Amino acid sequence: MKVAVLGVGTTKFGELWGVSPRALVREAVKEALIDANLKLADIEALYVGNMLSGILGRQENLGALFAEELGISCPAFKIEGACASGGLAVHNAILSVLAGIYKTVLVIGVEKMTDHKPEEITSALMGAGHDEERAAGITFPGLYAILARAHMEKYKTTEKDLAAVSVKNHYHATLNPKAQFQFEIGLEQVLTSPIVAEPLKLLDCSPTSDGAAAIILSENRKQKTENRKPVFIIASMVATDTLGLAGRRNLTSILATVKAAKKAYQTAGVSPTDIDVAEVHDCFSIAEIIACEDLRFFQKGKAAKEIIKGKTRLGTGRPVVNPSGGLKACGHPVGATGVKQIVEIVTQLRGEAGARQVKKAKIGLAHNVGGSGAVAVIHILKND
Ligand code: COA
Repeated sequence: MKVAVLGVGTTKFGELWGVSPRALVREAVKEALIDANLKLADIEALYVGNMLSGILGRQENLGALFAEELGISCPAFKIEGACASGGLAVHNAILSVLAGIYKTVLVIGVEKMTDHKPEEITSALMGAGHDEERAAGITFPGLYAILARAHMEKYKTTEKDLAAVSVKNHYHATLNPKAQFQFEIGLEQVLTSPIVAEPLKLLDCSPTSDGAAAIILSENRKQKTENRKPVFIIASMVATDTLGLAGRRNLTSILATVKAAKKAYQTAGVSPTDIDVAEVHDCFSIAEIIACEDLRFFQKGKAAKEIIKGKTRLGTGRPVVNPSGGLKACGHPVGATGVKQIVEIVTQLRGEAGARQVKKAKIGLAHNVGGSGAVAVIHILKND
């Protein structure tokens, strides 16, 4: 398969209290259209990735809403799949292009979280969990803490190993002007930050964030910017697993990631060693360690020690993981994340990432997860 990414755009991520979801979307879409050298009239369908607008914002009808807001009259769809909503919106948009239904489609990921109280956000996020988990009062940091404990027990992963993921991603975010936290943190700072759900501390967690991202996909490359490397999505795969952790046989791996990645590598005709740059779903530090193993960047149980040695850090490692700062430091406006990951990989593969450019990046991977691993979406991209 081959679908061209013609344009990308993203707002800054962060606590954007003075901005509405409509304004966020307008800004990201404007940037993507200018980037693609296209007009709104060229868009034949709109896909919106969002998780929380219904429960937090009392507005569910985002396809029609953003079509109206943008002033386009075209088929429009909202796609929801927890924190993987953005990745699933991209996947569905790709299917429509591959089916020959639409030639040029716009995908938006958007979320507005920080206007709401922390307990409302935490409870809304648990809409992606299993009923029994909710009834027991567990939260997402709690679920990932269970995964962290299992990994620590089986592979002797330490709290310092977890902290090293956050340290790296905060460093990368200092090079990304659109990141929420553009400052460095040290290992000791992570280890002594307040405990959220043991062993996870404040600085092991992605924050709550606002933001939007947009991409324009097409069956072929028709933009007029000839001096720019065209980027294509060459695999788009989705897999699911049980909603709750209790149904899983193995808590040290996310089966949905393993399954989707296997199919994506096959479809793209590439292997994990071919990946130069990856945006992975580091909603909590342990999630990046597990993802690097499930995506087969490192052997099972070995990723933590490689990450702490700098093997995924800009300038010292390959593949560079989360050059944007990841969910941890770029921010995690949940429905926007999967689209923003594609924006970052496209920027890297075009060679336009400035200070955080991964040298000679040719093949990139985006990994977006919903819930505690109930759904995973993998995209592989390549420049030409
Ligand atoms: N990393 C770094 N700093 C953070 C942070 C994070 N993850 N979260 C908050 N902060 C900072 C804030 O900017 C603030 O700094 P300030 O006092 O200088 O302004 C301070 O810490 C307190 O922030 P606050 O908003 O009061 O934090 P909180 O205690 O309400 O929430 C978490 C912190 C980690 C519990 C919350 O962000 C959270 O639940 N994260 C996980 C979200 C999640 O589950 N997403 C879905 C994943 S599947």
